[in-house]
Amino acid sequence: MDNLQHFHRTNYCGTLRMEDVGKTVSLCGWVQRQRDLGGLIFVDLRDRTGLIQLSFDDGTDKAIFEKASSLRSEYVIAATGLVRERESKTNKIPTGDIEVYVTELRLLAKAETPPFEIVENSNANDMLRLKYRYLDLRRPDMQHAIATRHRVTKIARDYFDEQGFLEIETPMLTKSTPEGARDYLVPSRVHPGKFYALPQSPQQYKQLLMLSGFDRYMQIARCFRDEDLRADRQPEFTQIDLEMSFVNEDDVMTIQEGFLKRVFHEVLNVEVQTPFLRMPWREAMDRFGSDKPDLRFGFEIQNISDLVQNSGFKVFAEPVANGGSVRLINVNGHAADFPRKKIDKLAEFVKTYKAKGLAWARLHNGEVTSSYQKFLTDEENRAILECANAQDGDLILIVGDAKDEVVFASLGALRCECAKQLGILDPMDFKFLWVTEFPMFEYSEEENRYVAMHHPFTAPMDEDIDKLETDKKNCRAKAYDIVLNGTELGGGSIRISVPETQEAMFRALGFTDEDAMERFGHLINAFKFGAPPHGGLAYGLDRLCMLMAGADSIRDVIAFPKVQNASEPMTNCPDVVEQKQLDDLSIAITKLEQEPSEA
Ligand code: AMO
Repeated sequence: MDNLQHFHRTNYCGTLRMEDVGKTVSLCGWVQRQRDLGGLIFVDLRDRTGLIQLSFDDGTDKAIFEKASSLRSEYVIAATGLVRERESKTNKIPTGDIEVYVTELRLLAKAETPPFEIVENSNANDMLRLKYRYLDLRRPDMQHAIATRHRVTKIARDYFDEQGFLEIETPMLTKSTPEGARDYLVPSRVHPGKFYALPQSPQQYKQLLMLSGFDRYMQIARCFRDEDLRADRQPEFTQIDLEMSFVNEDDVMTIQEGFLKRVFHEVLNVEVQTPFLRMPWREAMDRFGSDKPDLRFGFEIQNISDLVQNSGFKVFAEPVANGGSVRLINVNGHAADFPRKKIDKLAEFVKTYKAKGLAWARLHNGEVTSSYQKFLTDEENRAILECANAQDGDLILIVGDAKDEVVFASLGALRCECAKQLGILDPMDFKFLWVTEFPMFEYSEEENRYVAMHHPFTAPMDEDIDKLETDKKNCRAKAYDIVLNGTELGGGSIRISVPETQEAMFRALGFTDEDAMERFGHLINAFKFGAPPHGGLAYGLDRLCMLMAGADSIRDVIAFPKVQNASEPMTNCPDVVEQKQLDDLSIAITKLEQEPSEA
């Protein structure tokens, strides 16, 4: 095997162009493929910038030619040679006009045949890709995604630095405050039976930093949440975390708009228009059935409860009588795209959102076919179509339920599913939205009590402060989410900075004074020493990068992600540890995982 003694790389492979013809260059990288045509050998050499063709012919030194003929895919080599114009050019790669005629070749490492081909848009199985993640990351799309992530992070640091933010690190070993997702716990050796928690976010620390007078804080913060994984959720993820003193909602939002404008311009050359649209939570739910609506298409929700509440058709009348509603979406102009079979599949789809069924009407070629019209009067039928503003070619989809949440969740997901099936979602069309005026509380069936919708430090809206303990359902928060194309990119709020209000909030959440002191005493005490009004926001960096890279999952912008069951197939963690380690921590295992599980 050769080494790099007296070899100095001069260029990256993918950056060479016609202007470089005549230069002698030294390159390093991996063999993409080698083609041996007898007297001629071509090697495509790859580094993180792309590919370049190396060529060898009968004029090449014999030893070098022989070495070139021994090269296989993914061997690591270094080569020096002359850049020259190619005889047969290709526009498939940016270096397609040129090649490097090699005069020195070093073989630095051999490679076994990889378990999948190192190419863009690999169709290799996900588990295989993650098991061999270091190979998967060699693929150009992954290289691009990780580089995009670097750029976004760098711009965040630059932008917020220019705006006067200080980057301050907060601890990874913290106190468990079980309000929100489940914590990841770390046992203490020195304090047997006691545990640290990995931070779900630096929320409390960043607020304390405002009390300390730092005024503007930012951190690229690792966060840990033991919750179910989804395409946009990982157990460990990264936030661009921000907090500011002496601000109101407008101040926070304006600064964020500046950041997003800049990052989209610099990374994607996309000009986003600011200020972004703002929409109260209630309106978002009513029109889109979601607190993170995708605004790239219409199909808005209409409430037809009034029109059907007195109908003889129980499926429509009962939900209204039982305190729920009946609502519809009009998939305008797409009746022809949804024949019966597809509608049946949509009916199955809404069941995953607990809807009992899906009623529909198709207006096609001047005829109306429908699942429900025979059960309604002509007038009722007409009123529904009128409310939907239905035209020939439209498809009307209706869900009714005694629980409004079910209707919103079903129709909200359904409008997105229809758009997805229709292929009308352009990933390069970026529709930003601030969702504001969130409810302070949501009812947790599991815990049988109201819990904070954002977190317990979020301030109520001034108009609703009296409702904090008396009318939780209608109490709104000074909270805002930044939403992009149906994804919650980030969320934040103005915080409670008045100790009495914080105490009232803890009471509203059902904590006794002792409970609150035990869990949040540090914060309650700190607030007695002069808390400035403050607020902030945190972006999911992974989600931002996912949308900017046009990826389907945040996995694709994380170098070493976890899979569905929160394990990591490459290193095979989590894993058992030695008895000695457990003894040191005074921990006894009471239950073992039965079988190693595959995601
Ligand atoms: P929140 O819990 O809304 O707020 O989180 C902020 C943003 O972080 C991202 N995010 C996640 N990304 C990947 N995987 C996850 N499991 C995950 N969970 C959340 C989302 C989300 O919008 N401390 C507050 C922020 C604040 O009030 O300033 C907080 O953490 O993009």
